[in-house]
Amino acid sequence: MNKKLLSLVLISGLIVSGVFASGAQESGDSAGKKVAGFVWYNYADTFITSARTVVANEAVNGPVALLSTDSQNDIAMQANNINALFAKKVDYICINNISPNDSASMIQKAKDQNIPILFVNCTSPTEEELASYDKVYHISSAAEQSGWIQGDAVSEYWKAHSDADRNGNGKLDYIMLVGMQGNYDSQMRTDKSIERVVDNGIEVNCLQEMLCDWQRGKAMNQVASVLAANGNDIDAIFANNDDMALGAIEALKASGYLGDGPYIPVVGVDATKVGVQAIEEGTLLATSLNNPVTLGKTIYKVLTLLDEGQPITDETVGATMTGKHIWLDYVAITKDNIEDAAY
Ligand code: GAL
Repeated sequence: MNKKLLSLVLISGLIVSGVFASGAQESGDSAGKKVAGFVWYNYADTFITSARTVVANEAVNGPVALLSTDSQNDIAMQANNINALFAKKVDYICINNISPNDSASMIQKAKDQNIPILFVNCTSPTEEELASYDKVYHISSAAEQSGWIQGDAVSEYWKAHSDADRNGNGKLDYIMLVGMQGNYDSQMRTDKSIERVVDNGIEVNCLQEMLCDWQRGKAMNQVASVLAANGNDIDAIFANNDDMALGAIEALKASGYLGDGPYIPVVGVDATKVGVQAIEEGTLLATSLNNPVTLGKTIYKVLTLLDEGQPITDETVGATMTGKHIWLDYVAITKDNIEDAAY
């Protein structure tokens, strides 16, 4: 049997028997409680690690127990985890989905088992898909806000520093570090940051848009090569998250920028602990707090409300809702308000 066929046979065996190829972690005592199955896209991701820790802590004394799985940034692994959770007949399902094309079939499976399904921190199912079932919700940060925050921070820097136009061409030449192709947060941050700079009356020129999978190491390597090729042209670096912004900062430092060398503003998103340290150090210009505590607590709050048979509304959840979307706000963070990043 060839290798591909063998792994297909193994995975189908695992799905039928409800076994998780990558293991599953329980949080909270499930005795007498309903269970929520979680499918996180990648345990290795800094922001996801914080958010899932918050949800797990909530479950310790909360009414719903958890069974959590790691898709390891792999769509096949995600499918295996989802199928295994459905086979286990969990009572709720929460998906940090990396395959938007599969949303409809996930909703259909939840409908077949008559269980609520929450799409969290990911691209939303379409409005049609959301309308296809009464027990489907989408919980996400309002990602356009984080783009606007980045755009405003870079515009402000540009207007306040006459030497910000490093090659003097009258345009803000920038690099964009993209988190994930087709991901809602990534797309909004990429588009809205630049739209905001343009709305602020600044002409822009995209030197390069680079896909770095939300990862620091990938960002570092890619930025290092652009610096080597046309470092003198770069006026700003936009990163869809702090991990990638920190990778860019490492590359800048290694090439003699920042510190005593030329300054290039870098902006991120998340306000992770390390991101905030970089703001203190003066290497990260701005970020925005994408609060993993708010995300984790909101997810668990929705599960609790569903468990108690309560309605899901702006008032009960404590967040802004449009239809079945639950939106979480960002807070702009610069060196002037670092204390607001504490959670
Ligand atoms: C974003 C976060 C990123 C990454 C991503 C994963 O909200 O800013 O750092 O965790 O989620 O989907």
